[in-house]
Amino acid sequence: MKKFDPISSKLPVLMHGADYNPDQWLHDPSILDEDLRLMKLANVNVVAIGIFAWSALEPEEGVFTFEWLDTMLDRLAANGIYAWIATPSGARPAWMSEKYPEVLRVEKNRVRNLHGMRHNHCFTSPVYREKTLIMNQKLAERYSNHPAIVGWHISNEFGGECHCDYCQEAFRGWLKKKYGTLENLNRAWWASFWSHTYTSWSQVESPAPHGESMVHGQNLDWRRFVSDQTIDFYLHEEAPLKAVNPDLPCTANFMDWFEGLDYHRFAEVVDVISWDAYPTWHRERSDAHVAAWFSFNHDLFRSLKNKPFMLMESTPSLTNWQPMSKLKKPGMHRLSSLQAIAHGSDTVQYFQWRKSRGSSEKFHGAVVDHAGHENTRVFADVADIGKTLAGLTDVIGTVPAVDTAILCDWDNRWAVKDAQGPRNSGIHYEETVLQHYRAMWELGIPTDIVSSNSDFSKYKLLILPMAYLLREETGAAIDRFVQNGGTLVTTFWSGIVGDSDLCHLGGFPGPLRKTLGIWAEEIEGLYDEESNQLSMNASSSSSWFQGTFEIKELAERIHTEGADVLAVYGDDFYKGEPALTEHAHGKGKAYYLAARVEDPAFYRAFYQKLTQDAGVRPAIETELPEGVTVQIRSDETHDYLFVLNFSGREEALKLDSASYEDVETKEVVSGTLALPQYGVRILKRPTRA
Ligand code: GLA
Ligand code: ZN
Repeated sequence: MKKFDPISSKLPVLMHGADYNPDQWLHDPSILDEDLRLMKLANVNVVAIGIFAWSALEPEEGVFTFEWLDTMLDRLAANGIYAWIATPSGARPAWMSEKYPEVLRVEKNRVRNLHGMRHNHCFTSPVYREKTLIMNQKLAERYSNHPAIVGWHISNEFGGECHCDYCQEAFRGWLKKKYGTLENLNRAWWASFWSHTYTSWSQVESPAPHGESMVHGQNLDWRRFVSDQTIDFYLHEEAPLKAVNPDLPCTANFMDWFEGLDYHRFAEVVDVISWDAYPTWHRERSDAHVAAWFSFNHDLFRSLKNKPFMLMESTPSLTNWQPMSKLKKPGMHRLSSLQAIAHGSDTVQYFQWRKSRGSSEKFHGAVVDHAGHENTRVFADVADIGKTLAGLTDVIGTVPAVDTAILCDWDNRWAVKDAQGPRNSGIHYEETVLQHYRAMWELGIPTDIVSSNSDFSKYKLLILPMAYLLREETGAAIDRFVQNGGTLVTTFWSGIVGDSDLCHLGGFPGPLRKTLGIWAEEIEGLYDEESNQLSMNASSSSSWFQGTFEIKELAERIHTEGADVLAVYGDDFYKGEPALTEHAHGKGKAYYLAARVEDPAFYRAFYQKLTQDAGVRPAIETELPEGVTVQIRSDETHDYLFVLNFSGREEALKLDSASYEDVETKEVVSGTLALPQYGVRILKRPTRA
């Protein structure tokens, strides 16, 4: 695999550091001196600075106080520490909200918020845009060529929506651009239903709890608009930065599979993907479930630009906003940090460097605790992983070779959850995706998470979990993928609606009916306590695994139209009808799973068989113990394997016959690899043919 360049040529090593908020400590210069000493002890080489510093940078309108930041950056540079410099728009000063109330958000109920919190601003407000422009211009002029700066951290965790008059007008403009005429809009939204037909653009508004909320096409377009408007605001912030130094990379820190913004679209405009990961470890003895979810997210964030990404935030110990604040058990900090690297992160960064003394995050984990010194377990863990990262420079810029992709569109996710369909008390879209992903994780098969606009031709196996919203053109591209020899897996409740949430006519799964060789006639939701069974068809080819697996929540009645039946329902009036089918189509094969199978063993067996048939290789040719995964990054000469043990127990992994070296100890390893509880081993072998 070709290597990508390091994220910054100034700092061509794995970055290790934290959000740094010296603006909270300006009254005590001794703290800032101590920070620099401690950063070096913690093996920190980068910080993200100024994220919520607007009040410290512009305490009064038009009065700018950059001196403290000048000093800070100079001192960081003098100490060999680099910085992602933030634009401070994630929160704004009180003077701004007081003088210009239009910068504050209006909620769905059309009530304007008071000053407070963060992310509480309108992305359309001309005043807010003007103020961010002035600030960003000044920051860019002053710091773009500072030796410490490696890139821009734009705002913080973009999210949320505003329903003010400016936003309503912008929404109408967005709709006019999309639909051209009201007639088109009314048709796309099926507005004749309940007499919702619009006769003037001025009647169109955002969805509201006390107004319109039942027009699915409108809800969907509103979410798309919010996403586009946020991206537009990002571009507005970025323009003055790029104008001064176009070479500095810009990023916006994303959140785990955040529902509110279409990151596939957002990814197109950022230079490097960064995200904030806060796993809730230690809920159960085995952390496999949580680990698989975070692995899915790491894969998603790598796939967004198909290149290495940044772990911008993680906690060095615990969070304080989740229901329970658990300490990371010994080993978990290293395991969790290297999990990110294993999936393609080129950084491990934390929130935050030093614990705040007051306010809502005063008990959130930080590298430096209130005790103020380096003699803590957390500090030692941080320093230790810093040392490990310093020895892993070879993996920078590498990604895995990937044959498997899971299709996950944001608009599908929005639409399927808004659908008022078979299971309003929990359609469990994300859980469905994770069931399929989890099998890949357990098998150690590298996986991309892709969108409808991706190039499917580079994959051997494509998985569509609950692809409810499926455009004709996506269906056509997927059909070509199968005809050309690809293997496709599609589940129940797929191919139901098109772009504006209008049902496909002529039989589900709409654009994939011919590809899959089935017709889905009807679907039902099962109560939580109900179940059915999927029984593998003993008469189907002997190469298939056998067994009966529990079905929960959703079951679809389908008819074959050319497909073979691999499994049938075990119960209810549709007992004996197809539940899993296989269709030979062109040079490829298309599988349809008609019900939500509960048992992970089913997915494991199913994908083991499918990946073998399709020539998809796991990272290592061996059986992985439960709770252990192996992830891979490759360059032209070597594969780097990360063996990650989330089982909560000691494990042993039988290596295959390739020749492996332990990257940290440089020892040759073969036979059985010992994995301590929460252990990680990093191995390297010559790139596989
Ligand atoms: C988010 C924010 C940080 C901080 C952390 C706490 O990720 O970006 O500012 O609030 O959460 O976990
Ligand atoms: Zn607004």
